[in-house]
Amino acid sequence: MPELNFDKVYASLDLRIKDIVNIDEFDELTKEFLGKNSLISEERKKLSSLSKEDKKNYGMKLTEATEFITSRIKEQRQLYLDSQFNNKEEAEVTDISIDWKPTRGTYKHVLSTVMEEVVSIFSSIGYEVAYGPEAETSWHNFDALNTPDWHPARYESDTLYLDEKLQTLLRTQTSTVQIRHMEENEPPVYIVAPGRVFRSDQLDATHSPVFHQLEGLAIDKNLTFTDLKGTLEFFVKEFFGNNVETKFIPHFFPFTEPSAEVLVKWQNGEWLEILGCGMVDPNVLSNVNYPESYKGFAWGVGIERLAMLRYKIDHIKNFYDNDIRFLEQF
Ligand code: DAH
Repeated sequence: MPELNFDKVYASLDLRIKDIVNIDEFDELTKEFLGKNSLISEERKKLSSLSKEDKKNYGMKLTEATEFITSRIKEQRQLYLDSQFNNKEEAEVTDISIDWKPTRGTYKHVLSTVMEEVVSIFSSIGYEVAYGPEAETSWHNFDALNTPDWHPARYESDTLYLDEKLQTLLRTQTSTVQIRHMEENEPPVYIVAPGRVFRSDQLDATHSPVFHQLEGLAIDKNLTFTDLKGTLEFFVKEFFGNNVETKFIPHFFPFTEPSAEVLVKWQNGEWLEILGCGMVDPNVLSNVNYPESYKGFAWGVGIERLAMLRYKIDHIKNFYDNDIRFLEQF
């Protein structure tokens, strides 16, 4: 008597299961493989015409097959449900199972940490914090800072202007806060101004179109270049350690006279520039109507540069990429 090829039936069941895309299809499969018109049912109908012995044997095989198919469908249905659940959970934006205990992720960005440290070094010697806007007038960014009309820093290739007449811009330096503070406050002045500045620069290893500076300004009756040197040497030692060597070299800035750059000697013996500084030009003081009896000094330091030197970071882009593997190291 020809028997049903059970292996073939199971194989075709498995093939159909693989193609399932909807949970309801499992019910359809049960109907198809075990329902009234299924192969198994057709075979059962034939049992009555068999001998007693064959009826018993084949009947048992058909029952086993029914059980096998039933449990196969049940098991695969559950696996399908589980996988649907996992997919949904993975796609979920909020993972409510996350551990609320802050084992990682609760630290400040390295630029904030460095900025705060620099601010606190200067506040420890009496400087107050002042702020100014990032969108500025050309007056505050250039004119009041004694920058002549022809100065290259004013070129559109260097500065991001906000209007066609070049009257407003994104500040290129925190020196603007010197002017804003002096316009509104009488001397003496001892302030630091942390903030973001913008330049029309291409991104390369050490330049970014957006970066951070800390400006410093001291105005009083008897300030000299010696006070400037002492203040900035104190800062460099606090920040980089007592053993670091510094040197001042002559430079030019429109708003200071004389002007200088401060360099620190790095591990490999190289001298690296970290800030610009100088004695505030008398034209700047008269632009804000300060009495002639006052003078002082100013400086501007790049925060990214400080962080790159201290932590040996080789590309400025690392600060802004928000790659957690970089950020969590600090
Ligand atoms: N503003 C200058 C810059 O962005 C840095 C600077 C130099 C600031 C000398 C100062 C200063 O206050 O006195 O390059």
